[in-house]
Amino acid sequence: MIAITAATGTTGRHVLRALSAAGHDVRALVHSGARLEEARSYGAREAVVADLTRPDELAGALEGCNALVHIGPPMHPRETTVGQNAIDAAKQAGVGHVLLMSVTQPQIEPLLNHQAKLAVERHLLASRLPFTILQPMHYMQNVDVADCVKTGVFRQPYSLDRPLSFVDLADVGEVAATVLADPARHLWATYELCGTDTLTGHGIARVLTEASGTEVRAEQIDVRDMLPQGAPDYTVDGFIRLTTHYDRYGLLGNPNVLRWLLDREPTTLAQYAHRELG
Ligand SMILES: NC(=O)c1ccc[n+]([C@@H]2O[C@H](COP(=O)([O-])OP(=O)(O)OC[C@H]3O[C@@H](n4cnc5c(N)ncnc54)[C@H](OP(=O)(O)O)[C@@H]3O)[C@@H](O)[C@H]2O)c1
Repeated sequence: MIAITAATGTTGRHVLRALSAAGHDVRALVHSGARLEEARSYGAREAVVADLTRPDELAGALEGCNALVHIGPPMHPRETTVGQNAIDAAKQAGVGHVLLMSVTQPQIEPLLNHQAKLAVERHLLASRLPFTILQPMHYMQNVDVADCVKTGVFRQPYSLDRPLSFVDLADVGEVAATVLADPARHLWATYELCGTDTLTGHGIARVLTEASGTEVRAEQIDVRDMLPQGAPDYTVDGFIRLTTHYDRYGLLGNPNVLRWLLDREPTTLAQYAHRELG
């Protein structure tokens, strides 16, 4: 049985679907009872409620599992503690393999979400638990294709001229399923997962225009206009740091490792857009 945290989030549901499609038995850990049915609809064999900030709830939720996929809640003030809790609980429950979903270039120190993941990677290394770390790039799923085509606008809160790399979460899910099918082959590995596209905001709008046949233009917005209402200071600070960094440096990665793991070309943004448009 494979346990997965944050199972109904954007990353979680892609990984959960891929694990289930590959025939793995998955126990989804969800934040509240309202998410249990949703987790089962993505293919979870079992679904349990566990608040990741509560070590006691985590301990029970991991009982009987031979692997854990840990996904940290994004820009959460306690993301580091949550990751450390999950690793400690896995060790206590005798889980044999931890697949940690981290992020590309966790060493980018000014970014709070990267700092948190680096600290969790370090904790995992010190735990002596068998592990594989996946470091996904900026997700294609951050681009809401249907909405962009409907409104004719692709909005992003940093320079439209700064290039970023992307990865499709379906590819990330496929890699997670491959790793967990043969964990011994991927022991102690850290894999950067990056697709082949490197695009500016204007480039993304062009891809969406070509895929949909509808004119989509790019527009830069203020990060404060996209923050969730009542977000904690840590989260606000995290998003401001992220967009400031992207604005100046972008975020770039290399697709070789993903190509090797998939044994095919990674999904392109154009293919993702066509898939989203049905
Ligand atoms: N976006 C990107 O481009 C990108 C790229 C690389 C890595 N990442 C990383 O991927 C990770 C996942 O991001 P995501 O976009 O999938 O997140 P998401 O869609 O916001 O999902 C987060 C999940 O965590 C759950 N959660 C929050 N607090 C919890 C708690 N205390 N206990 C249990 N569950 C809790 C939420 O449940 P409820 O909704 O029910 O509260 C939700 O299901 C993040 O660490 C992010 O930094 C993101």
